[in-house]
Amino acid sequence: MSAPVPSPTKSAARETIKVRRMDFEFSDSTPSCWFDDNPLLTSILSALAVSFPPGERYFIASVRHFLDRVDDPLLLNQVKAFVGQEANHTKEHIAFNKFLDSRGFPASAMEKWVADRVGELQQASTPEANLARTAALEHFTAILASVLLEHPEVAERMSPEAARLWVWHAIEEVEHRSVAFDVYKIAVDDEQLRIQVMLKTTVIFILVNAVRTAMLLRATGRPWELMSTLKALNVMWGKPGLFRKVVPRYLEYFRKDFHPSQLECDEHVEAAKQRYLGALA
Ligand SMILES: [Fe+2]
Ligand SMILES: [Fe+2]
Repeated sequence: MSAPVPSPTKSAARETIKVRRMDFEFSDSTPSCWFDDNPLLTSILSALAVSFPPGERYFIASVRHFLDRVDDPLLLNQVKAFVGQEANHTKEHIAFNKFLDSRGFPASAMEKWVADRVGELQQASTPEANLARTAALEHFTAILASVLLEHPEVAERMSPEAARLWVWHAIEEVEHRSVAFDVYKIAVDDEQLRIQVMLKTTVIFILVNAVRTAMLLRATGRPWELMSTLKALNVMWGKPGLFRKVVPRYLEYFRKDFHPSQLECDEHVEAAKQRYLGALA
């Protein structure tokens, strides 16, 4: 395990990035609808999960491409920790996707589809656009993680091992939220490209995840449960309203003086670490 690495930016001076190796195991007793026995909540998060392994490999490659333009030793150390964290997320989410396969979800097939599309996109894009897309998607993961950590009562509705996986991943996404953005600022710093790529990425992200959620929901065999659906919509858009709370944070990205470290989440990250990570906090 590497030592905590301080952030290179003044505004993010309190941040640390720590690589934690985990080894989650999903037992036979883990239910198929692992999120509150709710088909829609399970499908929404599983839809995100299938894209993590290929997505995170892409993030690592996009950032590494520009390392020769980074002189700041603190940022270089942060990139190293970012790569370590994302590599561990990939490993654990491959295992999670295999668990989903075992419950009748087409998770690994979806993961393969995402990997193929990501490969094509990577080839068709400039390195600058790949890094801008990585910064955009890292903003998505950071804001989604921040709302999950702010509402610990939501993760408590997941089966215990799934809750540990998602909270651990959320903590680390918040910890390394500035890395791709800082490399982009140093190596590329094209504001127009940053905004354009975020807009296109948003459309694709929403569409792809909506379709995938519908496919996974169908695979639960319980797509028409009215009360479960209303409950899931309430969690996302009503109370606590995870997606509703993500929207203003998403919009922050379009400010000229935006920096990921402006996302205030320290208190919730600390509480989640104490609750879920024990000695690895
Ligand atoms: Fe990750
Ligand atoms: Fe990340």
